[in-house]
Amino acid sequence: MSEGPHRDLTVLGIETSCDETAASVVTWVAGARPDIRSNVVFSQIEEHAAFGGVVPEIAARAHVEALDGIVEAALADAGVELAEIDAVAATAGPGLVGGLIVGLMTAKAIAAAAGKPLIAVNHLEGHALTARLTDGLGFPYLLLLVSGGHTQIVLVRGVGDYERWATTIDDALGEAFDKTAKLLGLPHPGGPSVETAARSGDASRFSFPRPMKGEARPDFSFSGLKTAVRQAATAIAPLSDQDVADISAAFQVAVTDALADRVSMALTRFNATFLGIGSPALVVAGGVAANARIREALEVLCARNGFRFVAPPMKLCTDNAAMVAWAGIERLIAGLTVEDAMVLAPRSRWPLDTVSAPVIGSGRRGAKA
Ligand code: KG4
Ligand code: ZN
Repeated sequence: MSEGPHRDLTVLGIETSCDETAASVVTWVAGARPDIRSNVVFSQIEEHAAFGGVVPEIAARAHVEALDGIVEAALADAGVELAEIDAVAATAGPGLVGGLIVGLMTAKAIAAAAGKPLIAVNHLEGHALTARLTDGLGFPYLLLLVSGGHTQIVLVRGVGDYERWATTIDDALGEAFDKTAKLLGLPHPGGPSVETAARSGDASRFSFPRPMKGEARPDFSFSGLKTAVRQAATAIAPLSDQDVADISAAFQVAVTDALADRVSMALTRFNATFLGIGSPALVVAGGVAANARIREALEVLCARNGFRFVAPPMKLCTDNAAMVAWAGIERLIAGLTVEDAMVLAPRSRWPLDTVSAPVIGSGRRGAKA
């Protein structure tokens, strides 16, 4: 951790960019491990389950109903009064705009009432900096973000200093799991359903494509695979449980293989860029990082390439507000807060890396990270 003007900082974080309503209090004391004093997450999964995906209007309403209580719970769990915090940090994007408005407005109201500064946090930066909160990781490192809305490989050089090396040109990886599950009649969220079904499946029964594998372009693509899965399922419909298990297993093997190919390329690039760096590291974030098979493949890849594999605990890998509070702390320490945060509007799209060209077709769901 770099030296900053403060000796200790306590920040209240608020996260509402998708289907988790979350609040957290994190304290940083110079020279000590940061302390996650509370981390309250209310998942709306059940509210969206019947629709096979996140419904923006339902999400926004659920955030309105839950947020005040979640903030109160986060302060109470931490044993902190509003007067004791140094700042309020809230996710201002990217995400579903209804939820972002609820979170940002609430944060502004709290900040104004308590006379504290507001820090508008990029949700992706929250994911990117989590490994420093949990593992004290030093810069630079690579981040693989694999969630329902994003599939990116990002070079994390410093606070506010990111370079996106790869992104998806169509579906996000979590989205591919969710769509496959829906197609196979498995419950939402699709990732865990497909992973469970795959356990009793024979992956060799189907040979699905490995999109982008071996291509010089570093990006991801999953929509061709989705089409192949649909065609295979249609050809043998109606599907038995064994059919569903076999397709799930073959799908999982294909995405793991495709992902590993893309990540392997990024590790090579990192090593070439930072020749002789002491301990290169790959950090994973996002719900898909819960997948045991994918994790295992990444671990093997990292070991083979001399990379440390950093997987923060799942509750900090998926959407949470501790990462938002922490990003706020990092920004305060680095002196990277903006004066006019109180008048900032939420941004449904907000790339971490403003230099990389937008990728045609990416982020159609565009919201979740
Ligand atoms: O990061 P996350 O909790 O929420 C956002 O997308 O913001 O990620 C959720 C995504 C969903 O698409 C879900 O299906 C996927 O992560 N996921 C998984 C697994 N658990 C969750 N995908 C594959 N295998 C899993 N075990
Ligand atoms: Zn996220």
